[in-house]
Amino acid sequence: MSTNTLALLGGTAVGAPAPEPHPSFTEETLTRVTDLMRAHRTVGLNKGVPEIREAEEAIAAWQGVENCLLASSGHAALHDCIIGLEISSEDEVITTPFTWGASIACILHNNAIPVFVDVCPETGLLDPAKVEAAITPRTKGILAVHIFGQAANLTALRDIADRHGLALIEDGSQAHGAIHANRKVGSFGDAAGFSCMGGKLLASAEGGYMVSPREDVYWNAALCGQHMGRSSEEGFPRERLGKYIDSLIHTYRLSPLVAVMLTEQVKKIDAENEGRRTNVATFRRKMAGVTMVDFPTYLEGDNPAYHMLTTNFNADAAGVKKGTVLQALKAEGVTCGQYVPSPITMWPRLHWQTYDGPKIMWTENLRRSGIDYREVALPNCELKIARSIEMGWNFVVPSNPKMSQLASAFHKVQESLPALRDWENANPE
Ligand SMILES: Cc1ncc(COP(=O)(O)O)c(C=O)c1O
Repeated sequence: MSTNTLALLGGTAVGAPAPEPHPSFTEETLTRVTDLMRAHRTVGLNKGVPEIREAEEAIAAWQGVENCLLASSGHAALHDCIIGLEISSEDEVITTPFTWGASIACILHNNAIPVFVDVCPETGLLDPAKVEAAITPRTKGILAVHIFGQAANLTALRDIADRHGLALIEDGSQAHGAIHANRKVGSFGDAAGFSCMGGKLLASAEGGYMVSPREDVYWNAALCGQHMGRSSEEGFPRERLGKYIDSLIHTYRLSPLVAVMLTEQVKKIDAENEGRRTNVATFRRKMAGVTMVDFPTYLEGDNPAYHMLTTNFNADAAGVKKGTVLQALKAEGVTCGQYVPSPITMWPRLHWQTYDGPKIMWTENLRRSGIDYREVALPNCELKIARSIEMGWNFVVPSNPKMSQLASAFHKVQESLPALRDWENANPE
């Protein structure tokens, strides 16, 4: 059997390079975390706790946004954004169907109504032209997600938001340090939420943060997202909100154990993001001649932060199905797949007409609104999903050999497409 026989067809696998272990923590981080534990200091109510203040200031400075509020997860941080902007019952938020559920759950958890519009077929990012067309008198905000570390077109979205008096919210959970128009994402919105769970670019254990240029958003979120813990902070607007300082609200605070992880991770994320970018550039060079996948193109001044690397399967060039190529790549050892299974509009928890699972808080709200998500036409989202192939991208140390090995698996599959076609015909699903 030729050494070039695909592993799927009985040959020897190329094998895939191992990404760096992620998350990685410096010795300083380990010392600081264990010191806190030895000192019995695990509670992080507010900026009065030095580690909370330090992390919030470090993140605000790194993001280039005035106010930062740590939160217990990315979902909590996004909910803090919605709470902070006072987007609530029956307000509409225009958003993307091509994301992780928490981007949408944060809207639903404040009794607001997500309105889905189509995305750009190459990137899966919110299409600003579709956003503008979906604005109604009930629209209060636009929530853009920087999926896979690609920046949404924030210039266009900011412009639409400003012209219509809407709030712009960014979900940067997959995109810490991604650049749009030569500026970091998170600094364009009225508020932005980021996840810092262990799989993300700015990784801790579980955690997140909201950033906002608006003090009122910070205090609204602090007041209603973190119960009374923040009321002792300097600047707390007592006259306006004093009577509402109580614990009848969410508990989205973060432990100082995680706060010190974040402070220390911020120090190395820029170098790690550059390493990821260098590896993408090397990989793309080595993929020359592989026509079965295309890479998205980005606006001038944009630079993704590669949480994942998204590509688009080119069925015409391949002449076989995407599923067949995925099987062949996986057999060679490449970890790859399709991240978003279907447009979120198709997820049964949104179908109040037919939902019969455990009770959830938004079903009745959606029923009252009469919205039928099953009817929303999203051809570009469907196209992106049909073509999308993602790879995790924890390749933070620039490595020519690793990128060569990864690309060689793709070349091998590309060169064996005729054999793969025969295999596909002999193995119909
Ligand atoms: C785009 C996006 N938004 C929000 C979240 C939610 O973050 P968390 O899991 O920390 O709540 C995630 C997490 O995977 C995400 O990928």
